[in-house]
Amino acid sequence: MNAPIPSRPSLTAKPSLILVVDDESMHRKLVRTILMREGYEVTTCSSGEEALAYLTTGDVDLVILDNMMPGMTGPEILVQIRSMPRTSHLPVLMVTAIKEVDEQVRVLDLGANDFVHKPYDAKVLMARVRSLVRLKKHIDESENFENVLTSLTTAVEAKDAYTSGHSERVARIAGLLAEQLSLDEDTYNLVKTGGLVHDIGKLVVDLSFINKPGKLTAEEWEVMKSHPEAGARICAPLRAALSLLPLIRHHHERLNGKGYPDGLVEDQIPKPVRIISVADVYDALTTNRSYRKAMPHEKAMSILDKEVADEAWDAEVVRAISEIDPAILAEDDMKEGKGLIEASKQ
Ligand SMILES: [Fe+2]
Repeated sequence: MNAPIPSRPSLTAKPSLILVVDDESMHRKLVRTILMREGYEVTTCSSGEEALAYLTTGDVDLVILDNMMPGMTGPEILVQIRSMPRTSHLPVLMVTAIKEVDEQVRVLDLGANDFVHKPYDAKVLMARVRSLVRLKKHIDESENFENVLTSLTTAVEAKDAYTSGHSERVARIAGLLAEQLSLDEDTYNLVKTGGLVHDIGKLVVDLSFINKPGKLTAEEWEVMKSHPEAGARICAPLRAALSLLPLIRHHHERLNGKGYPDGLVEDQIPKPVRIISVADVYDALTTNRSYRKAMPHEKAMSILDKEVADEAWDAEVVRAISEIDPAILAEDDMKEGKGLIEASKQ
């Protein structure tokens, strides 16, 4: 394996690193030369085993993979790349001499993002490479976005020891609800991320009063109620967060119009928001708070059922939560902490 060779220096961005996997040294050199001429960094491997070992630590932006090789074949390597969490989303461009449509379809079905036929024009190769490097940049940006959200969520929970782990649990319960309701993958992903960020507004709201004994004063309650709008304000400029805004702003709305901040009713509250609301309330009821102990599942469900009767929550969502095994909802290891305050006393 050759070490990455620095390409033309760039003052604006780090060049993308491309891994070329091919058993023929002539072809490796040819592809390397073409790519470096275009400003990419290149590293090469002559076998699948070598490539997979490199990918366990190497930060690669694209793999160009020969289809036919002795030992592990291109498709076999591809399957391994897709099975490793670290590389499951890594763009892969297959280079193949096979022109049968069925084989091309098989390679795409196995997870190749695109392919070129040997012999190929260097311009065609480069067009494919540019397209897949763009794809990798999009993937990185969305991962960065999720990392930022996760950091913000951690910061939110650090402000209130009693709700430590709340956002992750709401995300998990919301995901379980989306599965129980047989909702599509996009909705599943939306409510999972929405659960994680729904309380992000608490980051900028002064909650110093939150763990004091007794009830909140009217003024404190007004401050508390401002967190959904504050969260929506934080995320409004982020294009990637557009679909999350309704979940952040409206997770304390109720179908009967008695929620906040906008007093929305019925059809004004979309299903993903209703899911987050129910997951949020269920988790709040079944974990310790400064003002009361955690309730058992049955008691939490009886409260939710009563509030369905008052037309606060979506009956279908509450029914779905009652159909999930309470042990799965409980996720014992997270509940055991019962907030940072108790944990620190042990
Ligand atoms: Fe909230």
